[in-house]
Amino acid sequence: MLKVFMLRSTVQRAASTRQLIYEGYGNPPEAIKLNSTNVADKPGAKEVLVKWIAAPINPADLNQIQGVYPVKPNLPAVGGNEGFGRVISVGSNVRSIKEGDHVIPNKSGLGTWRELGLHSEADVFPIDNTLPLEYAAVLQVNPPTAYRMLKDFIGLQKGDTIVQNGANSAVGKQVIQICRILGIKSVNVVRNRENLDELVKELKDLGANDVITQEELYGRKKKFPGVKLALNCVGGRSSLFLASLLDHGGCMVTYGGMSKQPVDCPTGPLIFEDISLRGFWMSRWYDVQKSPEKRQEMYKELTGWMKSGEMKKQAFVQNRLEDHARAIEEAQNKHDKKQLFLLD
Ligand SMILES: NC(=O)c1ccc[n+]([C@@H]2O[C@H](COP(=O)([O-])OP(=O)(O)OC[C@H]3O[C@@H](n4cnc5c(N)ncnc54)[C@H](OP(=O)(O)O)[C@@H]3O)[C@@H](O)[C@H]2O)c1
Repeated sequence: MLKVFMLRSTVQRAASTRQLIYEGYGNPPEAIKLNSTNVADKPGAKEVLVKWIAAPINPADLNQIQGVYPVKPNLPAVGGNEGFGRVISVGSNVRSIKEGDHVIPNKSGLGTWRELGLHSEADVFPIDNTLPLEYAAVLQVNPPTAYRMLKDFIGLQKGDTIVQNGANSAVGKQVIQICRILGIKSVNVVRNRENLDELVKELKDLGANDVITQEELYGRKKKFPGVKLALNCVGGRSSLFLASLLDHGGCMVTYGGMSKQPVDCPTGPLIFEDISLRGFWMSRWYDVQKSPEKRQEMYKELTGWMKSGEMKKQAFVQNRLEDHARAIEEAQNKHDKKQLFLLD
């Protein structure tokens, strides 16, 4: 009798949710499967029930499924490290979050490609719930990465110059816009393509001061005096020539490895110009930076720029969960628009 009651009560207190999971590492379009599961719809004392609304596909998500990313959730795992959702109920002992709040993951590895999730209060972080979807879905990773790299390595002043490769990446476009807002000049390196003029115009409209191709970078024909900071998301030959643009005492910060080549560095500038090489990982900043106030302060400045229109909405391809194979395939092979899962 008791058993039947417990079974019934479990069934009554569970909500069905669809989610994208991987059971083992592999090529992401094949490794990811759509499944349905039940989630208890009454949170425990320190838990929150989140209705996920939108989540992007980032390069790090793909690397994680391939098993080559340092964050390795227990398998099977729900894919996706970023996204935002609305809190639909909270446990009796939850203090920092209330029903109706919008939240993002507190750190990488939560699994956001799902409709509903029951999470510990400590695993999610409240954000401005008036922020439009296109901004909220990507607030956790790319804008803060651009923001921190510009703020934390070199004391940049108005009028200073930075260079970056992968300038048409999502992070690259945030870098361009934050530079424009802060009065910093940006020199932007992109790969050549058929519609190069269109891309140059797009980046200049965002605020890029110069846009050059990788070939022009390698040709060393253009000089950019006084470059203090180089942001590298490509590696290999691209980083070699990017670092060569640095002025005396400049710093190259590597935050991605899109070419899958080691970071090459020019010997002369390292010795004679005292340039330095650093790395940056947003996840580590979140881990090390324990102060929620510092995090809120950064989001406040970023969301201010977003809501005033100074930072433009990113272009997305919107997908439903059932379109996962195509969406993930496109995220791997095309980089012009970010793929986004709509989960609501
Ligand atoms: N360290 C951190 O905390 C952090 C945070 C965010 C992102 N990231 C990293 O930053 C990078 C960009 O992320 P995202 O989300 O902005 O990416 P994204 O929007 O998908 O853009 C990818 C960029 O990489 C370029 N690219 C791809 N393969 C390349 C190659 N073989 N050689 C040169 N360029 C290549 C693409 O250029 P084309 O248009 O020419 O293909 C595009 O500019 C990724 O490596 C990501 O993991 C790191």
